[in-house]
Amino acid sequence: MLHDMNPVDVPMPYREATLNLYGLGTRKVLVSDHEVPYPDGRLIVSTTDTRGVITHCNSSFVEMSGYTREELIGAEHSILRHPDMPAAAFEELWNDLRADRIWRGYVKNLRKDGACYWVYATVIQNVRYGEVVGYSSVRRKPSRRKVEEAARRYEQLLAEEKARCPTPIR
Ligand SMILES: Cc1cc2nc3c(=O)[nH]c(=O)nc-3n(C[C@H](O)[C@H](O)[C@H](O)COP(=O)(O)O)c2cc1C
Repeated sequence: MLHDMNPVDVPMPYREATLNLYGLGTRKVLVSDHEVPYPDGRLIVSTTDTRGVITHCNSSFVEMSGYTREELIGAEHSILRHPDMPAAAFEELWNDLRADRIWRGYVKNLRKDGACYWVYATVIQNVRYGEVVGYSSVRRKPSRRKVEEAARRYEQLLAEEKARCPTPIR
């Protein structure tokens, strides 16, 4: 269960958006235009259970998300979902993981304070005794050129999704 974002946490001018989260209903998010640059030389790491609930994260993850570790552990990973990300990107991620494939891609994440940050993520299965027990994502600093390419692609995908389904079911 994810709470709506709280205006007191968002210091910059913002717009409101409503996300339709898979299996979780809707979440109101507050989004500013501010982007926080990915810190040089750092990896941002998180681990989830098989449903995408965060079980571990490193200190870079905590710092960049703006949430406390207590708020993050036990929360759905979609706590970072940004409304500029098309559903298709995450469908591909989940399809790849469930088909035993690694997913690599560019993700625009939403911080607790309404700002965003871009990452290049590699997401893999965690297998123990032959059984998938969860997933891990290791994120690196993306190049600016790739971020701009991804932003253009995602904008187009999002427009197609909205045209197909103006009030999306996910
Ligand atoms: C290991 C792992 C890491 C993930 N990292 C992110 C992330 O950084 N940002 C994000 O928006 N979604 C991430 N996701 C995908 C979310 O679980 C979720 O699918 C996505 O936010 C879209 O929300 P929805 O599936 O409810 O539509 C991750 C999933 C896994 C398994």
